[in-house]
Amino acid sequence: MSYSIAIDGPAGAGKSTIARLVAKKKGCCYVDTGAIYRAMALFMLRSRVDASDREQIAQKCREARVELAYENGEQQVFLNGEPVNGLIRTEQVSQMASKTAAVPAVREWLIDLQRGLAKSRDVIMDGRDIGTCVLPEATVKIYLTASVEVRARRRYLEYREKGGTETYEEICEDVAKRDAQDMGRAIAPLKQAEDAVLVDTSEMTIEQAADRILEICAQKGC
Ligand code: DC
Repeated sequence: MSYSIAIDGPAGAGKSTIARLVAKKKGCCYVDTGAIYRAMALFMLRSRVDASDREQIAQKCREARVELAYENGEQQVFLNGEPVNGLIRTEQVSQMASKTAAVPAVREWLIDLQRGLAKSRDVIMDGRDIGTCVLPEATVKIYLTASVEVRARRRYLEYREKGGTETYEEICEDVAKRDAQDMGRAIAPLKQAEDAVLVDTSEMTIEQAADRILEICAQKGC
């Protein structure tokens, strides 16, 4: 029987870094579902769809074929056959992803891809609704969070390293805005599943957070 570890939480909580480390330690596959929504957002931006036109987004999403592949354990996301990993980590894509992800037709279009990945292999999957919607039967559910200030600081340092010019204040505002969008949407909002364990990483190193998750997994027998 394969196992699945669902990690949900707000932007900047450290989900991807921590989940990647846990995957390495456990030898399972790391699935970053945010990248799927980001690839869809890139498609919408390229198609010049108005971010507030939910009807057009719902119609257009079926033209976007999003696929994932794994090369040396690293996830690669493809948009209509094109590898787009290098194009989806921008503020513009982040904002568009948060808006398009709130459209029910988009979520429906992308859910089978996510469920299929967890069917036949051990996975640690991160996102916003993994424990609540995508994998409600997940072996382990974690709600990973941190304060807005800590999350904004982390994102700021990450962007600066890549040569980004956004200020800390701008990023802080963006994080708060995305929280409101992701938590406030009508469909599959970001929230802690009833049976999820809360892990607050505000005062934790990446290693400490990963060890905490490994401990929770061991308690659940996986
Ligand atoms: O985790 P991330 O920042 O890469 O996610 C980008 C956006 O995609 C985020 O604002 C919310 C959305 N998302 C979602 O709605 N459901 C998921 N399972 C993953 C991401």
